[in-house]
Amino acid sequence: MRDSAGLENIDLKVTEMDKEKYINANREAWNEATLKHQEARGDKLKNAFASEGYSTLDEFITAKMKQYHIEGKDVAQLCCNNGRELLSMLNLGAKSGVGFDISDEAINEAGELAEISGLAAKFVRTDVLEIGHEYDDLFDMIYISIGALTWLPDLRLFFKIVWRLLRNNGVLIIYEQHPFTNMLAASDEKEYDASHPFEVAFSYFRTEPWEENSGIDYIGKTTYEAKTAYSFTQKISDILNPMIQSGIGLVELIEYDHDISLMWECLEKEKMVPLSYILVGQKNG
Ligand SMILES: C[S@@+](CC[C@H](N)C(=O)[O-])C[C@H]1O[C@@H](n2cnc3c(N)ncnc32)[C@H](O)[C@@H]1O
Repeated sequence: MRDSAGLENIDLKVTEMDKEKYINANREAWNEATLKHQEARGDKLKNAFASEGYSTLDEFITAKMKQYHIEGKDVAQLCCNNGRELLSMLNLGAKSGVGFDISDEAINEAGELAEISGLAAKFVRTDVLEIGHEYDDLFDMIYISIGALTWLPDLRLFFKIVWRLLRNNGVLIIYEQHPFTNMLAASDEKEYDASHPFEVAFSYFRTEPWEENSGIDYIGKTTYEAKTAYSFTQKISDILNPMIQSGIGLVELIEYDHDISLMWECLEKEKMVPLSYILVGQKNG
């Protein structure tokens, strides 16, 4: 996610051709990484979802989903990976769930976990920027989380799609790494200085994509000669403005000092900087 692509002045409103290149590359990179994740995890999730009521959602997002009355709702997760969070939402009482992800391997795993759990989930392999109109107006709650937004080269289009998938008054819940962390070097990056871990290493206003060639194995923490993955720096305003302009109003934004990504655990104990946030939006009825 962090090695510069060496590209200058690329606006995040990328061309259709660029978009296609990034998305196609990311599909391959995520397929490759998902196999590594599966190897590192073994049967842990399979065993866990065989038990009734299992959830991987932490106390913060669990409380927020309950506050917005997840029980009995039709929910969706965008960039759902192997579906562990969507299945957990069903175990919190959602009536039905659809998960969308670009990775073939992640969607296959999600299907297996759904079968093991016996929950009412459906998983669809797709670029979320291409979700079809057959899913319009189907959901009361849409969730996206933990290292998902950063892969999307076009947040304007993304929020327009979220808007059309939501029913009137439906809520969008985002639980993500805080954009403040865009400026910090993680402990495995060459820019990291253990004596000054909060030092600004990267521009908050970066517009060129990140090109990653050593893998995205945040589970097994291995590095490998990987297929190239492209991710994007997004400011708070890059997230809020297109959401509000799409017709999804801001209900609340809560900033936290805890890490949700396994990238910033080293900074948690100081409780000095924002590491994650929950944002709730609602489609204007
Ligand atoms: C870090 S993972 C999300 C993890 C998930 N929140 C969890 O905690 O299990 C990011 C996911 O985004 C997916 N992704 C990346 N670009 C995508 C796109 N354009 N459309 C759909 N999914 C995408 C990847 O395949 C990957 O599964």
